[in-house]
Amino acid sequence: MKVSLGKIIGKGYKRYWEYKGRYRVVKGGRGSKKSTTTALNIISRMMEYPLANTLVLRKVFKDHRDSTWKQLKWATQQLKVAHLWEFSKAPLEARYIPTGQSIYFRGLDDPMSVTSITVEKGHLCWAWFEEAYQVTNEDDFDKIDMSIRGELPPGYFKQITISFNPWNERHWLKKRFFDVEDEDVLALTTNYLCNEFLGEDDINLFNKMRTKQPKRYQVEGLGNWGVSEGLIYDNWEEKEFDYMDIVQQRSGIVSRVGLDFGYVADPTGLVAVIADNEEKEIFIYDEHYQQGMRNNQIAEMIKYKGLAKEHIIADSAEPKSIDEIRLLGVYGITGAQKGRDSILNGIQFIQQFKIYVHPKCVNTILELSSYVWDKGKDGQQINKPIDYFNHILDALRYAVEDLGRQAQPRVRGL
Ligand SMILES: Nc1ncnc2c1ncn2[C@@H]1O[C@H](COP(=O)(O)OP(=O)(O)O)[C@@H](O)[C@H]1O
Ligand SMILES: [Mg+2]
Repeated sequence: MKVSLGKIIGKGYKRYWEYKGRYRVVKGGRGSKKSTTTALNIISRMMEYPLANTLVLRKVFKDHRDSTWKQLKWATQQLKVAHLWEFSKAPLEARYIPTGQSIYFRGLDDPMSVTSITVEKGHLCWAWFEEAYQVTNEDDFDKIDMSIRGELPPGYFKQITISFNPWNERHWLKKRFFDVEDEDVLALTTNYLCNEFLGEDDINLFNKMRTKQPKRYQVEGLGNWGVSEGLIYDNWEEKEFDYMDIVQQRSGIVSRVGLDFGYVADPTGLVAVIADNEEKEIFIYDEHYQQGMRNNQIAEMIKYKGLAKEHIIADSAEPKSIDEIRLLGVYGITGAQKGRDSILNGIQFIQQFKIYVHPKCVNTILELSSYVWDKGKDGQQINKPIDYFNHILDALRYAVEDLGRQAQPRVRGL
């Protein structure tokens, strides 16, 4: 059977598809075919090169299953070769049955496992780093880069494909791949306008975003680098920590969960923190960030994370959702109180803390490094945040809201 690659892939990715240099980098807006095209390309190339194996990487291992693993499986169906591939969940892997070539999946949260890959058949030729923006530390990327080294048979080539949404121009990916001229680098920018597979409702969302949230449209729509002037929070750092250690070592630590509702256009954001109001430290140890969630799914997610008994403070704009989620067994959920100027007051309160974010909370890190003050007509910074990159950060405000209310000045030593 013959399939038409041109029809399956569509337009806009010819150079990308054919490029054989070491670094193939694609930044783009949401829905610009980055992931699907890369998945189609890997399947198709592996069948063309019988000694090539592929390593697929993400910052957080568990995120593969609903993204890269699924997309590669989907690609075998699109290319009408699904019967020749075997996709297993434990271990997470894909195998080309006729030759035994494999696709391996790894996360940076288990750094040993990347260097310990031994391929069964042939060579490790290619790596695909999906959502590479999440990698805040360039050294982590260099380690992967080092592991894709060594001699290959004639006709073979080594390549690392990097795909991501370009949230913030200060990211190392810009300097390293987009601000250079290097024959070993192909750096592309794509957007939804080259995706002929999008439905009318998707296009409508982008059109609405273009008029209502022009800054967001620049990044999520057009795939341009996000601007990072006027960051609201700089009082945070990414850091490994053990939740239990902190809870056991300190007295007076409180545990809170914040929840911000989204639905079609915006994600639902959840953040789980422990906070030390005396030492003014917040430890963010878990998060959830997902579009299109219904209330029963939110309740399930909270229970699955073991947070159902925590003190959960949700956006009070949706009292019906809060009631529904409570009736589904999440008894600790209440609405935020949101006093006057609650956004500004909440931000100022959080700015007094040092925030430690666990590396697995990739969306929290994304929002913290992109949430900025808005600008007025003359370009001057105004006292109002942009309405974007604020899902988890709104949830964070709700989470610690009551600590602010209790924080009356204490009389010491009396
Ligand atoms: N080759 C394709 N064939 C069919 N649908 C596609 C194809 N490429 C993209 N799409 C559709 O477009 C959506 C967005 O593509 P995706 O690769 O996920 O974008 P990105 O990774 O850039 O955000 C996919 O979920 C799929 O519905
Ligand atoms: Mg994608």
